[in-house]
Amino acid sequence: MSRRLAAGTIEPVIVPRYWAPASHSPPLVETRWQSYLAGRTSEAAIAIDLGCGDGLRTQQMPHHFRQSIGVEFRHQRYQQALNQKQLFGSSAEFVQADVTALPVLPTASLLVVIGLLHHLAQPWLLLEQLAELGDEMYLCTNVADAPEEAYDLSDATEVCGWTGRWYRESPTNGYGGVEPYSFWPYGDSLRKMLWQVGWCTYEPFPLQRVGKFHRMQLVCTKGGRP
Ligand SMILES: C[S@@+](CC[C@H](N)C(=O)[O-])C[C@H]1O[C@@H](n2cnc3c(N)ncnc32)[C@H](O)[C@@H]1O
Repeated sequence: MSRRLAAGTIEPVIVPRYWAPASHSPPLVETRWQSYLAGRTSEAAIAIDLGCGDGLRTQQMPHHFRQSIGVEFRHQRYQQALNQKQLFGSSAEFVQADVTALPVLPTASLLVVIGLLHHLAQPWLLLEQLAELGDEMYLCTNVADAPEEAYDLSDATEVCGWTGRWYRESPTNGYGGVEPYSFWPYGDSLRKMLWQVGWCTYEPFPLQRVGKFHRMQLVCTKGGRP
């Protein structure tokens, strides 16, 4: 059963912290994803890349799956994805849609959720829907167990039973969330959330510090549930 926030209840208090320069290490995110993807070739399978941005990752997936679909809300990103598709002659398909109101999509063998979940105000709702849509999910997301210098995060709070921190989004920056705030669960809360909505989790990679934040990369499956 979904635990939904009543409309208008999101009023997080975010204490400004000092701005620490980012020392992002996207290569590690990419290396881990590539090592996972290398073992996931299936000509029969469908993969869906949610919050696919400019679709570069989605374009790589037709080498591994029969059908690859990218879902992106922002028109500019979606248009970039279509342009790249033309440029690369890729068979990937793209849908412009909000993941909080997903259109009808085919059942997927693999759901790819990289850099999207920590931009949502109610991440548990998407995770619950995805548990209906796919057999396996590769999830890469920031979590609230952030170092002290993390900026734009509220103090710890509880929302619908999940412990985490609010993060102030910047909906105009073109890469982040489309809502003003997102909710980042703590790692432990995220594991419980995943389990409760129907996923078993496997963590092949240790928690990673990326600049000011901590990031988890998990593989979520349906197998082994009672
Ligand atoms: C940080 S980027 C990650 C892009 C890509 N997955 C990657 O790994 O490079 C997050 C993407 O999610 C998209 N996004 C954010 N909220 C969304 C929503 N509610 N529905 C669909 N896309 C969304 C953003 O527009 C942005 O392109």
